[in-house]
Amino acid sequence: MREFRGNFRIGRPVFASAEPAAERGILKTAAPNSRQAQRRESALSSCSTMIDQSSASGGNDRNFRKLPHRTEPMDASRPRESVMPVGPQEFRAALGHFASGVCVVTAKGGDGHLAGITVTAFCSVSLDPPLVLISIDKRARLHDALAGGGRFAVNILSADQEVISRQFASSRHDQFAGVGYTTGPDGTPWLEDALAVIECRHAGHYPGGDHTIILGQVETTRIREAKPLMYFRGGYGQLA
Ligand SMILES: Cc1cc2nc3c(=O)[nH]c(=O)nc-3n(C[C@H](O)[C@H](O)[C@H](O)COP(=O)(O)O)c2cc1C
Repeated sequence: MREFRGNFRIGRPVFASAEPAAERGILKTAAPNSRQAQRRESALSSCSTMIDQSSASGGNDRNFRKLPHRTEPMDASRPRESVMPVGPQEFRAALGHFASGVCVVTAKGGDGHLAGITVTAFCSVSLDPPLVLISIDKRARLHDALAGGGRFAVNILSADQEVISRQFASSRHDQFAGVGYTTGPDGTPWLEDALAVIECRHAGHYPGGDHTIILGQVETTRIREAKPLMYFRGGYGQLA
């Protein structure tokens, strides 16, 4: 955590948008040279018209339709650009602009050993009943144990726990080496010095592309006063 930006200290230099426009999902239209290209040109041009009409009506058009992905607001003074479907790089870059806290989700693995995974895809879902969700990569070692039921704890990390975040994001087998923890009522690990621990009972899981969305009913919580560890544009940071 080296650099200051406003009230936010970030750990790694942010990347500049040095990629060519086409790689950032913005493709200048070329003269169509085939029937397929003509069809695509025609479809893209109707998209742009639709965007213009929607903004002209203040966005309150009853016939409002969901628009294709756009990376920049439309500016009539600029040369016309068409929009390509979002790719993994653009997706990551855009989503990286959502500053979040960092959690380690802990549970007993399938064979009963303790395991954890670093997660930023965590959010509150419902107050009554108290529900949260986490989204877990289907390839993660802990995926089957988390999706399969049982209990898990969401340990919200404090600003001085970057090392812990890195440790639980690695594929090492001794993830708990050097990590202080106690156990909750059902043996789920609760990390020492976590900002908050939210112990959950599995309350359902849902497909989410290459991830599984896991719903947890909150049963026990523990909180302490400290600053949160944060993650923003691919780097760790903390509130100033
Ligand atoms: C800051 C950060 C946030 C992450 N968030 C998630 C997440 O929300 N869901 C997820 O499945 N993996 C997430 N990961 C990746 C996992 O932590 C990592 O792939 C996993 O620990 C590897 O586990 P495995 O070795 O068991 O496969 C994140 C990693 C980092 C560094």
